[in-house]
Amino acid sequence: MTQCRLAPYHSQVGLQAKRSGIMQALQAFLAADMQRVDEVIRARLHSDVALVGQVAEYIIGSGGKRLRPALVLLTAGAVGYRGSHQFEMAAVVEFIHTATLLHDDVVDESGLRRGQATANALFGNAASVLVGDFLYSRAFQMMVSVGDMRIMQVLSDATNVIAEGEVLQLMNCNNADITEQDYLHVIRYKTAKLFEAAARIGALLGGADETLGAAMADYGMHLGTAFQLIDDVLDYSGDHTEIGKNIGDDLAEGKPTLPLLYLMEHGSAHEVALVRAAIEQGGLDHFDDILAAIHSGGALEYTRERARQERALAQAALAGLPDSSYRQHLSELAGFAVSRTY
Ligand code: IPE
Ligand code: IPE
Ligand code: MG
Ligand code: MG
Repeated sequence: MTQCRLAPYHSQVGLQAKRSGIMQALQAFLAADMQRVDEVIRARLHSDVALVGQVAEYIIGSGGKRLRPALVLLTAGAVGYRGSHQFEMAAVVEFIHTATLLHDDVVDESGLRRGQATANALFGNAASVLVGDFLYSRAFQMMVSVGDMRIMQVLSDATNVIAEGEVLQLMNCNNADITEQDYLHVIRYKTAKLFEAAARIGALLGGADETLGAAMADYGMHLGTAFQLIDDVLDYSGDHTEIGKNIGDDLAEGKPTLPLLYLMEHGSAHEVALVRAAIEQGGLDHFDDILAAIHSGGALEYTRERARQERALAQAALAGLPDSSYRQHLSELAGFAVSRTY
């Protein structure tokens, strides 16, 4: 039997010791619950097939911020849920997230994740794709064990939309003519959808009415959108020792993210030509020049401002919740999505 060696939750967040105060407070608040989630993860990772355990343990044991499971726990708590299905559902959401990461790193040809070599770099593309499938299908087995048809509906729809988002992004790759709307469509699908699903599941567990359930879903969607906007900022401005991923992966792939789209609209003729060629051809030949233009031309500030707008919408969606520590942490999590450096 393969046992996943999980680092304690508090040591998993942030590769360097620079964890944000918001995250430290959140970890302290959720410590006992997150331990239960980790127990579920450990138990459910079992496979008799050695390579499955090896790859799954490698990526899950390497940590991660555990934001999506935190969202299930916080929203369930915020609407007054006092049962015990939240641990299983939080683990389900983390398995789905991890499966998407395994697949995403193959597609993006990424070499660094959570501060260590990606699974595809270490075990190869085939193993990553197949173990991603294992985690997806294990998540669905776990969902069935909870037996709530509405939750299964939410998660089957979400995984389907995430896949569409990744394919949509593939179609947009090397296309310098996409609009901000096209970009937002992709990030809502590939990233925000799982945040939305996690928040809606918490509300469903707690028996929230449709109005509150929709508000929680809305919160998750805006939070996830802010989160991905900042992810795309960090790809040009982060510190790889902090974010645990390589900077410049997006440009290398010719991925037209918002900082580049902004430059295409507002840059000098020379910058526009540079960015267009980089998107169309991919590669990092002109990374330094593009980085300089991105930093001096306001592209990151514009993207951060869009993220702040999403944060405000996320926080506004919490208005219908009763006052509680859960609600407070949800509000602060929206702040972290914007202020994060990892
Ligand atoms: C990475 O998500 C994928 C994106 C949607 C940007 P996280 O940054 O939440 O990844 P981990 O789980 O903390 O590693
Ligand atoms: C992540 O998108 C979306 C999913 C994993 C579905 P990115 O490709 O931007 O995420 P990172 O930068 O690799 O984490
Ligand atoms: Mg990627
Ligand atoms: Mg990214």
